[in-house]
Amino acid sequence: MAPSDWHFPRREFTHSVFVTLTQGPSPALRLFGPRRTGKTEFLQRDLGFMAAETYGHRVLYASFWQISTAPLALLLHACDMALRPQSYSERLLKWAQTPPVRIRLGALSDLAGLEIELGRNNDTPPADELLLLDRHLDRLADSRRPALLLLDEVQELAHHPQGTEIMAGLRTSLDRRREGLRTVFTGSSQIGLNKVFSARNAPLYRFAAPLHLPPMGPEFVDHQLKVFHRVYRRKLDRDTALDFFRHFQGNPMFFQRWLTALGLSPDISEADAARQTAQDLAADLELDRQWLALQTPHRAMARIIAERLPDPFGAGGAARYAALTGVDAPIPQTRQSYLRTLVRRGIADQWEGEWRIADPVFEAWILDRGADDF
Ligand SMILES: Nc1ncnc2c1ncn2[C@@H]1O[C@H](COP(=O)(O)OP(=O)(O)OP(=O)(O)O)[C@@H](O)[C@H]1O
Ligand SMILES: [Mg+2]
Repeated sequence: MAPSDWHFPRREFTHSVFVTLTQGPSPALRLFGPRRTGKTEFLQRDLGFMAAETYGHRVLYASFWQISTAPLALLLHACDMALRPQSYSERLLKWAQTPPVRIRLGALSDLAGLEIELGRNNDTPPADELLLLDRHLDRLADSRRPALLLLDEVQELAHHPQGTEIMAGLRTSLDRRREGLRTVFTGSSQIGLNKVFSARNAPLYRFAAPLHLPPMGPEFVDHQLKVFHRVYRRKLDRDTALDFFRHFQGNPMFFQRWLTALGLSPDISEADAARQTAQDLAADLELDRQWLALQTPHRAMARIIAERLPDPFGAGGAARYAALTGVDAPIPQTRQSYLRTLVRRGIADQWEGEWRIADPVFEAWILDRGADDF
């Protein structure tokens, strides 16, 4: 059994994204989805796989998280890789590895022997590297079977000193080859992504149409239980599995943590493994530490956001704030400033116009604490 058997293919969604991307009117999509919900896995194992293996498109993948010091070098490296003759599974393996510190662009670069350092942190991108990127993209472009550029963690670009120039160069290159190059941008912070796509002065402003990763449903659980049964010869209780899955907002990674705990200890019960996994996750993510670092008003605001109150700054939010803390709620502006603190610390984020706790585990953890912990 290969580890990839654990992958649950999102077939219908992948197909509709593939068709929209290759034949739709917009040359680019931007994929939204909370932390650790399977965006990268979708790009690489669903969309990229279908495009490359089933339909023979060229696929490029680059994550700006891996090495945010030299994003332009990273893009060039990704282009260079995409132009090499390799099978899709070889590519997948390479994408999982950290790129080398120094990169020698191959025979395809024209500029013979050009070597770039990924660790370099220049403020201004050399014009010849932007030109080289444009040339590489030109080689990748194919109007009959557009090349797919899968660019992950793009919110990192917004923080980089060269970011604006790179985005501007990229936008120009992609715009000029709308037929031959199609892009999916992804990121794990919606506020960060908005900086890249919705700020009026951002070069990629309104360039990409929004795309939402649909949540995993019970089919994911059934698929995972089936694979678990094949691997470990143990049938797990479906209801406990579904409860655990729902408790963590249908998060695939946390569900697999639970399966791993069960796989490692054949005698542990499903419910005990669920308790242990929840504790381990909280410890891993240092949720205690984050919570203790918050003052009472911020905790109250975090709980209100976790409870997904429809009007956190309105009358409902004020009443809840008072019930939680035992004191009258301050004016909405003050409560908004508490929320901004949570955003700055990466605890809260905005999804589809609604405020959310950015990490689904943290959300579940806050709700589990009981409403009197202030
Ligand atoms: N379709 C799937 N089938 C099986 N497991 C999955 C699937 N999607 C995600 N997972 C599991 O969830 C984990 C997290 O997925 P992934 O890294 O793609 O999330 P992400 O949304 O890109 O996270 P981040 O916000 O941190 O970038 C994967 O390593 C895998 O174990
Ligand atoms: Mg990811």
